[in-house]
Amino acid sequence: MANAPREQWSSRAGFVLAAVGSAVGLGNMWRFSYLTAENGGAAFVILYLGVTLLIGLPVLLAELTVGRGSQRSPVAALQHYGGRAWTPLGMVFVAAGFLILAYYGVIAGWTLRYGLMAFFGGFSGVSERFEDIAQGPDAFSFHLAFMAITIAIVAGGVKAGIERAATVLMPLLFLMVAGLAVYAAMLPGAEEGYAYYLDTDFSGILSREVLTQAAGQAFFSLSLGMGAMMTYASYLGRDANLPNGSVVIAGADMGIAFLAGLAVFPMIFALGLSEKVGGSTLGALFITLPEAFAGMGGVGRVVGLVFFAALVVGALTSAISLLEVVVSAAIDGLGWGRRRAALLSGGAITLLGAPAAWSLGVLDVMDQVANNVFLLGGGLALSLFVGWRMQDPVGEARVGARGGRGFSLWRALLRFAVPLVLLYVLWDAVPGTLRAVFDLFAA
Ligand code: PHE
Repeated sequence: MANAPREQWSSRAGFVLAAVGSAVGLGNMWRFSYLTAENGGAAFVILYLGVTLLIGLPVLLAELTVGRGSQRSPVAALQHYGGRAWTPLGMVFVAAGFLILAYYGVIAGWTLRYGLMAFFGGFSGVSERFEDIAQGPDAFSFHLAFMAITIAIVAGGVKAGIERAATVLMPLLFLMVAGLAVYAAMLPGAEEGYAYYLDTDFSGILSREVLTQAAGQAFFSLSLGMGAMMTYASYLGRDANLPNGSVVIAGADMGIAFLAGLAVFPMIFALGLSEKVGGSTLGALFITLPEAFAGMGGVGRVVGLVFFAALVVGALTSAISLLEVVVSAAIDGLGWGRRRAALLSGGAITLLGAPAAWSLGVLDVMDQVANNVFLLGGGLALSLFVGWRMQDPVGEARVGARGGRGFSLWRALLRFAVPLVLLYVLWDAVPGTLRAVFDLFAA
């Protein structure tokens, strides 16, 4: 155990900004709008809202409760409440941090590069070159640069590093996304973009596959199932209102995801590039949209710069939380100093990202494994832990909260509804993911 006193956020707002920073990231701007457009528009938004309320919010509150209550990093926190038998789950969380950040850093590296392109030369021709930009030594170099920034911030500490970064970056991110949505609304053809995005089709959402995607997206977007929110909550004081915090975090995460979709689709439609939206989630962001920016001339460079700057900022505050899970575990478990922990674990993660930087196929499989196995599986284990194993989670969650209604519903959801839905979804998602892993190695 490190003997320095445990760091804390300087204010409740600092915590909320950092947690929203963790939640809002590439998941919001990259996958949410795409899934929505593909899967029934407004109907998918309603399904997603339902999944967030029924599954996401209870697990988020569970993570905050374990973190704040134990004042420890995930491995030690689970041991504190569950005994030695639960430490492996904490280790799985740390492994998930490694895996996700390794490929997340690669995608973040692309966004960094696109931002610089907007600044220095514009986007003409990028759409044909995407596969070269996304794979190879260049992709690795930008991943390295992005990871260096992430490591530097985490090494700075909870207050002076993470909280300070979030306090500056999150308001900026919100302004950028809101500005883009307003700009997009004024474009000719905006209505067609909205129609494509939100065109309601309820027949699309009643399949298990779509439910799986909605659940996976909710966990990824809210940073759940791998201890990130737990770690951040461990730096909270006992006076924090956890239910309140959960609602604010989930609301901000959904709000920004929705807003980002309002920005993306009108821009694509204004330039008549709609037939190029399908294909892949990445395609819309890194191929079609830059093409749209290139077609807008000088304005396109400014809009593109703002857009990719927003992506970089969102990715950075999320990457920070992924690294912090690993770093806090190394500080608590190995007794390392923060700087050493940040540098060594961040360095190892950067190297683990190399295969993803060299191959889009590897990156895609890492993403599937992270989502479908680690986050959903981690969420299942966590709901069982808090629902069945932890003594009196309601007593702990209630500390600092006003009012007492809703807590027994929360516990019942964690005990029954959340595990059942997650089992149903995992049953579907895991075999397909294993097949993808197998195919990758067989190829
Ligand atoms: N929530 C982040 C996003 O939407 C990704 C993330 C997942 C961050 C898990 C931390 C933990 O981009």
